[in-house]
Amino acid sequence: DKGGHKHFMAKEIAEQPTVIGNALANYLTAEGHIALPDPGVDFNDIDRLTLVACGTAYYACLTAKYWFEQIARIPVEVDVASEFRYREPPIPDRTLALFVSQSGETADTLAALRYCEGKAARILSVVNVPESSIARESDLALPIHAGIEVGVASTKAFTCQLTVLLMLALKAASDRGTLSADALADHVSALRGLPALMSVALEQNGAMQNTARRLSEARDVLFLGRGLMYPLALEGALKLKEISYIHAEAYASGELKHGPIALIDKHVPVVVMAPRDVLFEKTVSNMQEVMARKGKVVLISDSEGLKEAGEGVWASIEMPQVHNAVAPILYALPAQLLAYHTAVAKGTDVDQPRNLAKSVTVE
Ligand code: F6R
Repeated sequence: DKGGHKHFMAKEIAEQPTVIGNALANYLTAEGHIALPDPGVDFNDIDRLTLVACGTAYYACLTAKYWFEQIARIPVEVDVASEFRYREPPIPDRTLALFVSQSGETADTLAALRYCEGKAARILSVVNVPESSIARESDLALPIHAGIEVGVASTKAFTCQLTVLLMLALKAASDRGTLSADALADHVSALRGLPALMSVALEQNGAMQNTARRLSEARDVLFLGRGLMYPLALEGALKLKEISYIHAEAYASGELKHGPIALIDKHVPVVVMAPRDVLFEKTVSNMQEVMARKGKVVLISDSEGLKEAGEGVWASIEMPQVHNAVAPILYALPAQLLAYHTAVAKGTDVDQPRNLAKSVTVE
């Protein structure tokens, strides 16, 4: 049942304020403490985190690396499961291995998990399907409470994965005493504010549709972001190529002049994801390099950012002001909607893109 939407993907995008609210309710106590299912985990016993996944779930892991390192000061390694499993990396003592999978059945991710058995101090998973193989084979499975995801391109599972991963990073920070009580409370209230901000972001649908109509003419699209926006740029590019079949690539903004800038000309739209944060000026200067070469910039930022840097851009999309740490969860929405409306404008099969399967149970 598409609930009145044209596609499951549209329905699942629209459900995000609700499912993120569910995920939060399942992990946050009334006092704002983070409660994990039993047997919990004490991050004082952990020196290192290894995060492994495929596709969109891998981008959730890349985002989580910034959180765990910045908030909880734990060194983090992130890898795609198909590389990890055959590289057979050494797993130092006191490593927590964490596997992220919507389906819980992805063959490479499951094999990577099995490789860590008997080596890692603890095996955790972040899954949408609690009775899945990956959930069953981990010491502790953290459900994301997204509800069934039908669209092949992952949307609500991604933002729920992010939400649970951020809560886990906050739990790690609180165990390890790396965040002040005030800062911790700040993060928790930012998380609690997300559903409302997401509803505001979803109201930008019209602006998104207009921009998407123009994007649908492009042959190549680039995505740029810095810091927490870099993994999200990767996810935005993946979404766009999966369902619209437009060639899309993402780079860390700072990498632009190390190669990809050679691609820029008047035919190439460049989606820049940049909330007005401490890295904003840097990203804007990369964006200006794009504009100087006639690249068409789609700037996704907040009102302050658009006021400061929106002049001369090809299109802009306004997001509400948001706490820096939760920004990738909110900015996932315009990334998804741009891909969705571009695919609709092109007339592709949004829910069943060619060559793709919802669950990749063979390698
Ligand atoms: C992208 C997408 C895929 C999956 C990947 C992992 O929209 O859906 O990239 O994220 O196949 O799947 P799970 O999370 O089930 O392990």
